[in-house]
Amino acid sequence: MFIATVKSCCSRLSKLAIVGMSALVLTSVCLVLPAQADEAAKPVVIRFSHIVSGKAPKGQMALKFKELAEKRLPGQVVVKVYPRAMMYEDDQVVDAILKGDLEMAAPAVSKFTKYTSSLQVYDLPFLFDDMGAVDRFQHGPAGRGLLDSLAGHGIRGLGYLHNGMKQLSANQPLLQPADAAGLKFRIMSSDVLDAQFNVIGARAEKYPFGEVFNLLETKKIDGQENTWSNNYTTHFFRVQSHITETNHGVLDYMVITSTAFWDKLPTAMRSELEAALNEAIEWGNQKAAEENAQDRERIVASGETNVMTLTPSQRMQWVQAMRPVWKQFSGVIGQDLIDAALASNNKP
Ligand code: SIN
Repeated sequence: MFIATVKSCCSRLSKLAIVGMSALVLTSVCLVLPAQADEAAKPVVIRFSHIVSGKAPKGQMALKFKELAEKRLPGQVVVKVYPRAMMYEDDQVVDAILKGDLEMAAPAVSKFTKYTSSLQVYDLPFLFDDMGAVDRFQHGPAGRGLLDSLAGHGIRGLGYLHNGMKQLSANQPLLQPADAAGLKFRIMSSDVLDAQFNVIGARAEKYPFGEVFNLLETKKIDGQENTWSNNYTTHFFRVQSHITETNHGVLDYMVITSTAFWDKLPTAMRSELEAALNEAIEWGNQKAAEENAQDRERIVASGETNVMTLTPSQRMQWVQAMRPVWKQFSGVIGQDLIDAALASNNKP
């Protein structure tokens, strides 16, 4: 009898204990779940800052990336695109990304001089014959390797994006190098670009992209170099009487983020973002080629400037006058990179 009473008592007690424990577990689950659910519901925000118009090839690619990333990761990722330097100038984005005030940007490769010398290979005049060569270089080991050239600074190169070949503009015809002597040109922040103008007796000054139109309009500078699409979308052609189709250099971008931000994303999310970015870049590169061709025609049709082409012998004079810059920078850039870039001019 006593044993039976004790047994039933124990059984009731253990039921109570189970109920009690379950309640405890439930309570803790309830305490933990709302926080986790909140966390899970919060999308990752990617702020993408750039300095051109939303209609320029880079601006369109950034919007394409937003569309594709948000489609691949619905509710998990939100991409906010800030055009026209409304958030940061190109020389501020690396610091902003490292501080966590920004997640992505795509400055011209010429603007990384203060972090690495190797990317200046892209600035050597008359090195790449055309954008096809740039593409081949970037798909080869040397070009791909350069995506890691900012790793020591905590920056990850996610991919390259094209704009196109650069043309020279001024308020006078520039048909041979001597025509540029004594003129002041705006350049991006690259020492190679500085040398490229110095070697033909011109001066070069580094200014942010957003200031170029005013500098040209007020004649604080005499000329500049840029692609057809930037000349058109930023209206430089309206304040320059002549543009010479030199195709002397390349304007290309590197899409960057911080290693710290990227590495803490879940692996599956990273691969979806990579896929979205690669698709957006391919689309953007196609767009850039089309827009540059169209914008050239729009500039010609505007009648607001004179578009001049070079004869083969005039072009050869520019090539020869600027070639010494290659030797001047082979030590800092690396002759192996220059050779790999040159090899990409050979079509397969
Ligand atoms: C850009 O296309 O991002 C601007 C390039 C420049 O600064 O000239």
